Amino acid sequence: MKIRHATHTDDRFILEFLVRNARDHFNPVFLLKNFQAGLIEQFKRTINDGVCPMPDKEYPSSLQVAEIRGVPVGFMWNLQRTKNETEIYMVGVAVEHRKKGISEALLKNELSKFKSGHKVTSRVKRKSLAMKHILKKLGFAGKFYFPYRSQNFQLEIS
Ligand SMILES: CC(C)(COP(=O)(O)OP(=O)(O)OC[C@H]1O[C@@H](n2cnc3c(N)ncnc32)[C@H](O)[C@@H]1OP(=O)(O)O)[C@@H](O)C(=O)NCCC(=O)NCCS
Repeated sequence: MKIRHATHTDDRFILEFLVRNARDHFNPVFLLKNFQAGLIEQFKRTINDGVCPMPDKEYPSSLQVAEIRGVPVGFMWNLQRTKNETEIYMVGVAVEHRKKGISEALLKNELSKFKSGHKVTSRVKRKSLAMKHILKKLGFAGKFYFPYRSQNFQLEIS
């Protein structure tokens, strides 16, 4: 398994994954054509310019892919919210490659790049049990978020 920066050739794998898993794990608006256009724009800008347009402003962003024998099997998309804070925006691993440590490897690879004191956050939906398990395993603390449809996790790099 190799971890590399995402390229335009990963568009189908990542965007289809996000739409297919929108309702349970990401944002149900990704099922709507108008919002899919926004998601495609976020993907393109992240690859081309290293920034992701969000409703309030553009944030520096990066998108890493895990591949096996040249085929993308997982990804991790980050947004740098402030100089000292990065959000794990979205993570996914193809069903047939789950429970082999791929997302853990993607997360650990990213976390190793941050300096001591840097904050890493993630907002996780109620049904995303696997993601919650992984974050807790890596030392993130979880806080409930009203109205409890999602939970915020946070880690300060030591
Ligand atoms: C969350 C997700 C990325 C995990 O990917 P993965 O590569 O299968 O995870 P890993 O193999 O690295 O697993 C790491 C740990 O999580 C555990 N885990 C994996 N799937 C799990 C599940 N369904 N329920 C509980 N724990 C789970 C593993 O057992 C492992 O823990 P362990 O070492 O203590 O046994 C993957 O399940 C996925 O794509 N889910 C749908 C999208 C999603 O929920 N994304 C997160 C929202 S941002």
